[in-house]
Amino acid sequence: MNELHDAVPARDVALEDIEIDLFVRALKLRYGYDFSQYAPASLKRRVLQLAHTQDAATVSALTARLLHEPDLLQGVLAGLSVPVSEMFRDPEVFRTLRERVFPVLASYPQINIWQAGCAHGQEVYSLAILLEEAGLYERTQIYATDFNEKALSHAQEGIYPSKEARLWSRNYLAAGGSHSLADYYSARYEYIKLDQRLRRNVIFANHNLVTDDVFCEAHLVLCRNVLIYFSDPLQDRTLALFRDSLVRGGFLCLGTRESLDFAPSAVDFTPLDAALRIYRLGARASGRD
Ligand SMILES: C[S@@+](CC[C@H](N)C(=O)[O-])C[C@H]1O[C@@H](n2cnc3c(N)ncnc32)[C@H](O)[C@@H]1O
Repeated sequence: MNELHDAVPARDVALEDIEIDLFVRALKLRYGYDFSQYAPASLKRRVLQLAHTQDAATVSALTARLLHEPDLLQGVLAGLSVPVSEMFRDPEVFRTLRERVFPVLASYPQINIWQAGCAHGQEVYSLAILLEEAGLYERTQIYATDFNEKALSHAQEGIYPSKEARLWSRNYLAAGGSHSLADYYSARYEYIKLDQRLRRNVIFANHNLVTDDVFCEAHLVLCRNVLIYFSDPLQDRTLALFRDSLVRGGFLCLGTRESLDFAPSAVDFTPLDAALRIYRLGARASGRD
């Protein structure tokens, strides 16, 4: 009895893993999106959740639909991405950018910032506000990228539930904001809309960190809470991409739960603030001048 009881769930789990493997292959072969190097546990959670929300009885049923219904693709990509964010998330990171990174960026006549994995755009608007307050925004170009088209459209609209505003205002002040966050949005019913003038120097673009190449020549790359979803080799590949995008002496800012420590590409970076995951590309590295 016990043997049978133990055996059934084990077989179920293995079957699910086979189905997920086939789903990932189908997505890659049919549409070119490669999730094979994402961290398996969180990927599995999201695929199962997706099957549930799409009313598919099994992951195999979802795979069959995905193969035959191209219209499902954007919904599937949105379901596999986790576009969770907030304005001035980890305020001390933004405070440090403002106090220690911006003064260096100020020495460049033109500043390029690549915000990879921008989700719904909260960090893009946060950066734009801080750059505006530092008097640097006029000569800054922000490239905000993500592979999730739905998230990118949302980011461009800059509309968020007003219930978020209280936390974001606190974050903004903790990040050293010099006004009131309310100066940068208009409130209507249950929503706030960020001042669209903040978008004037932002280019939103679809870019996949797994399959696409260097995106721009950057003085600062901000990629927070994206690498946590990747396996170690994929994290290393992505870090090499950032290194190759950065000018010599450029800055890299990762999420506070992410690390460079294990990655061969990390040798090129020195910590500006290791706890806040802000690094600088060293003088000996192979980045651009
Ligand atoms: C948790 S959000 C991070 C948002 C924001 N950077 C932050 O820290 O608040 C992760 C984002 O990474 C994006 N992402 C995941 N894999 C990606 C890939 N291969 N290429 C580009 N973006 C990716 C997801 O679509 C999602 O919007």
